[in-house]
Amino acid sequence: MYVGAIDQGTTSTRFMIFDRSGAEIARHQLEHRQIFPAAGWVEHDATEIWENTLKTIDVALGGAGLGPSDLAAIGITNQRETVVLWDKDSGRPVAPAIVWQDTRTEHLVRDLDAALIRSRTGLTPATYFSATKVRWLLDNVDGLRARAERGEIRFGTVDSWLIWNLTGGRHLTDVTNASRTMLMNLETLDWDDELLRHFVIPRVMLPEIRSSGEIYGEAFPGVPIAAAIGDQQAALFGQTCFAPGDAKCTYGTGGFLLMNTGTEPVRSNHGLITTVAYRFGEQKPVYALEGSIAAAGAAVQWLRDQLGVLDSASDSETLAGQVEDTAGVSFVPAFSGLFAPYWRPDARGAIVGLSRFHTAAHITRAALEAICYQTRDVVEAMAQDSGTTLESLRVDGGVTANALCMQLQADILGVPVSRPAVAETTALGAAYAAGLAVGFWTSLDDLRANWHQDRRWQPGWTAERRADGVTRWRAAIDRTLDWIS
Ligand code: G3P
Repeated sequence: MYVGAIDQGTTSTRFMIFDRSGAEIARHQLEHRQIFPAAGWVEHDATEIWENTLKTIDVALGGAGLGPSDLAAIGITNQRETVVLWDKDSGRPVAPAIVWQDTRTEHLVRDLDAALIRSRTGLTPATYFSATKVRWLLDNVDGLRARAERGEIRFGTVDSWLIWNLTGGRHLTDVTNASRTMLMNLETLDWDDELLRHFVIPRVMLPEIRSSGEIYGEAFPGVPIAAAIGDQQAALFGQTCFAPGDAKCTYGTGGFLLMNTGTEPVRSNHGLITTVAYRFGEQKPVYALEGSIAAAGAAVQWLRDQLGVLDSASDSETLAGQVEDTAGVSFVPAFSGLFAPYWRPDARGAIVGLSRFHTAAHITRAALEAICYQTRDVVEAMAQDSGTTLESLRVDGGVTANALCMQLQADILGVPVSRPAVAETTALGAAYAAGLAVGFWTSLDDLRANWHQDRRWQPGWTAERRADGVTRWRAAIDRTLDWIS
């Protein structure tokens, strides 16, 4: 028997199958369209995502010569915060999905009561989270608010959308995803009525909040969906960061550093957010501090898709490797504003320090460095909040295939960077959560024994070079703020 994981990310959907040792047996992955209707807007087609999910399951199972009955359970992990609204009778989306990166609700965020939101939800008010996106749709799609009030419309993050479709109509979410909506009370782990009033969102639209590991229903006869967990929390779990103080950084479209803080929520004073890491059944929830970076791999995707200077993301390593350094160029990919630790929705991207000498190689190298400097900013905030300094950083996600970028990360942080043998820790984390819920794995120690290091990068830069780089980076950040958009 095996465990399957649906990993529905920002740019693609994959289905992966793991055995008891945590080794990958099969996978299939499909990209979906990124829709940019206006500057700052990012949308997905939820129907395309659902169809891709079914195809990836089908092809991964078929390719491995397996059938659904070979799976003990399926876990779901997903891009968080992205908002899907659908008609409860037809099951069809009533609007495009608004993606977490979308900044169209900046005007709504400006008027929010930041202290109230922080104390109730652990989040810093931002366009990033779901609440203002739901409000925007209710206010801007003709007739939608009236229909929602009549109970005809369902809201969900992508986990809910997939559970609804896989189970034929169960409207559920898990506590990690709910904690990203800016509508869940972090202490009661329930929807907060005052916040719902504040955002004018009818409660009847919302899913029931469940734990991250329990049976939500069946995807196929006898095959339970036994986990749902936000992708960054899943990666924390897949990296076996089960003890307070354990941390990881995942580099996908964005970058996300999470530190397990145990069973009490820890509030940040340095620009991080407090989130639920996971909860199993009726056990106490485990919390995390998170530093969210809006654009990590997105910087490379932009060079590839919008500027056309790269054929593939992996070419960034070769191109950036053609030059020794950026020759004074800094690139701040603040496409969706800046998230942690700055939280500046008004920031816009900038490439600074250009002269006629510079080439695509310098700019690409600056994009890789930007991923690493943003991570450094978050690591510093984490150290200030937790009072402990990181001795090494566990990393995962697509960007970690770029060895140059990981070397730069060690250089810029000044601590070693360590990548596990299974780089797909997000999918693995969802598989672990589902497998634990059905007894396929029986203890966290079983999972810890599965973690093996694949590669470690040691810092090479002198302290002086690092300090110079940080000064230049901060100066570049300053130039992205208060931009006239
Ligand atoms: O919060 C957004 C995050 O869940 C998206 O992750 O890996 O798709 O960039 P990723």
